[in-house]
Order: sequence, then C-alpha cells, then structure tokens
Amino acid sequence: MKQKFPINEIRSLFPALTIKDHEQVFPIYFDGPGGTQMTQACIDRMLEYISTGMANLHGTFSTSIRTDRLLEEARQAVADLLNCAPQEVAFGQNMTSLAFKVAESLRSFIFEGDEIVVTQLDHRANVDPWLYLAKETGAEVKFIPVDKEDLTLDLSNLDELITSKTKLVAVGLASNLTGTITEAERLFAKAKKVGALTIADAVHAVPHFPVDFQKLGCDIIFCSAYKFFGPHLGIAAIKAALFEKLPVPKLQPAPNEIPFRLETGTQNHEAIAGLCGAIDFLAHLGTGEKASEKITTGMQRLERYEQELSEEMEAFLKNIPEVELYRAPEKVKKTPTFAFRIKNIHSREATRFFADKYNLCIGDGHFYAATMAEVFPVLESGGWIRIGFAPYNTFEEIEVFKQALKDLILMKS
Ligand SMILES: Cc1ncc(COP(=O)(O)O)c(C=O)c1O
Repeated sequence: MKQKFPINEIRSLFPALTIKDHEQVFPIYFDGPGGTQMTQACIDRMLEYISTGMANLHGTFSTSIRTDRLLEEARQAVADLLNCAPQEVAFGQNMTSLAFKVAESLRSFIFEGDEIVVTQLDHRANVDPWLYLAKETGAEVKFIPVDKEDLTLDLSNLDELITSKTKLVAVGLASNLTGTITEAERLFAKAKKVGALTIADAVHAVPHFPVDFQKLGCDIIFCSAYKFFGPHLGIAAIKAALFEKLPVPKLQPAPNEIPFRLETGTQNHEAIAGLCGAIDFLAHLGTGEKASEKITTGMQRLERYEQELSEEMEAFLKNIPEVELYRAPEKVKKTPTFAFRIKNIHSREATRFFADKYNLCIGDGHFYAATMAEVFPVLESGGWIRIGFAPYNTFEEIEVFKQALKDLILMKS
C-alpha cells in the first residue's frame, strides 16, 4: 500500500519546479543523480547569510562571530546527518577536489608494492584520485569487477582482491549509474582485517537513504550537498585519529587543527549556510527528539516514497521491448536511479527529444561511471539514458515520461 506522502507540500518547497519553459510547460526534473533542485530552506539560509553581512572567521565583530558559529552549526548538522563527530567534518569545493586533496595527503601512507583496491562500478571521482596515489607511490591497483548480469560488485574472489598487501580500499555506497547499493560494509570489514584504509563515496547514497559513518566502519566518507537539495559544496568526514595524522598541504600560518587543516583558504560560507538549510529540510520530514533521529526518519520517509516511484518506473521500462534496462535483480537494494538504452536510438537523440518536446530533464552518457562504459561498450551509441528520482517527483510526471518514450519509439519505427 502506498504511504501518504505530502507531495504538494514538498513540491512547494522547491521554487525551481514552478519555472515554465518558453512553451509554458513545467519542467520535470528526472536528473536527481546529476544534481537536485535546491530547497527553499537552503535558499533562505544562503540569502540570509549574504544579505545580513558576510565576514571572514576569528574576528571580534558580530558578522565574523556569526560566521564562526555558522561553521560550527554546519559541522554539527553534518555530524547529525552522517553520525560522525563535528571536528571530523571538512568542507571543500566538491567531492572530487576533496578526494584529490586526501589522495595527495595519503602519499606518506602508501609504498611501492602496496595494493589499492577500487571498483569498476564507481564514479571516477572515487577511482582516479586513488589511481593518482598509486602512480605517485608505485602501488598496484586492483579493480573489483562488476557482475555483468547482476550489475553488482562481483565479490566471489574477494580473498584475492583484498590481501595483506592491500593498503586502501575505496568503494561507492551506491552507483550513480545503475542505482546498485553495494555491500560496502562487508568490504570495509574485510579491508579492516588486513589493516587497510577505507574510503566511502556516499555522493549518490546520502540523497536516498540514511548513511551511518560509524556503522559503515570506514575511515573517510565523501558527499556533495548539491545532490541532496543543497548548494554546490563538497563534504568529507575523516576519522579524527587519521585526520590528525594527515600531512595536508596548507599555508604555514593557517590553523593546523582538525578539521581546519584540510580547508585551504576561505570557505564558501554562503554555501555552508545553505547546507544547514538543506539538512533542516530533511530533519523537518522526520520525527524524534534528537536532530539525528529526525534526519534518519525523514530520510526513511523519502526513501519509501522514492521506492514507490521506482516500482512504477521499473514495471514500465521492463515492459517496453525496445528498452534495454541495466538494473540489478529484485533481491539487490537499489536507489531510484535507472540506466537504460533504447534499441536503434542514440541516447542523446532520445534525451534531446524528451527535453524539447516535454521539458523532461534526463541525462545521457556515462555519468563519469566511465569504467562501466568500458565493461559495456555503449559509448558509440551515446552511452546510457539515466532517470533518477528525487522526492519532489510525482507519479503524474512518470505518466508524462511514459507518453514521451512511446512517442519517440513510434516516431522512429
Ligand atoms: C557517485 C558520485 N561520486 C562522486 C561524484 C563527484 O561529485 P562532485 O561533483 O561533488 O565532485 C558524483 C557526481 O556526480 C557522483 O555521482
């Protein structure tokens, strides 16, 4: 049975949903995995910060003191979101830049002959920084393969992949291409047994289900606020004991304590203010006493609704003979993200048709899950078409997409 979900109320909190195109058609944002729309609470916080006086940190005057407090509030909000300590939270330009920074600082932890394990399923932002680290240190790289049938990570040879030589294991919690939720906890537990450092890319996970840094058992986790209704801002949480030891490149007079040591230069304070609003939005959907409980229960509510949207979409796509769907089987947990191709139609042609005729915002290509595009050689015909839901999407929007896809197939037949 479908849950009662306050979809109209939720939609009213996303002003971008009301901006019609030149033909007076409302946009349908099915590109959540590429970046969601910003919630009003986020916009309000950004505007408030910008319009009431901006400042740099550590001053004696009110706007500076307010900015210091803002950063504290934002670190606490991320701590509530990810179940980590506020001093473990560092901000940066985006996930990719933070990952490269961390890779640079891990150079003194990795040596020639060591092994680094990454996956074929991941976004390259959780691969290339560690490949760079391997190149700089002389370490070997091993890829956990993807099971081509199941679109899950193939862990059948795990004992050969993670060995006593393994020094770093980087795994995405959920695929931004196929939506597959990985067995990251199992992989991190195995990596910890051999004393390896563990890294989680939670960029596609945090928008869709509660993520618990403690429970995952990893050392570093990354996410990106623009994927969960916030601003363009990268977030890293690093276990304090490791963070304190990281030899990060920094200015000599800048603070050396965690988390400031990773935050080179002045941060994007307005985006950090917006992040507080985005996390507030999640908390307001939930129940409980503590902020962390509210966020978790709020996320669970969104997750249930998105799963209902997913069921509808999956049932439809599976029944269209021209559609080649890249989706893990029922037993595998998945985010509401669908990768597919349409027989004999270039993916870009399809998404252009959807955009031009229906104002449907749908992506195409490899979405930086570029190793997957080597495993499945699809790029010549435009890669995949990707639909990803956010909690502001509706069943009515799915109906529009169904019609659009049928029209396209008819037109090309
Ligand atoms: C799973 C995943 N990881 C990492 C990234 C990179 O994030 P950012 O754009 O913040 O660098 C993305 C962006 O699409 C992503 O989907």
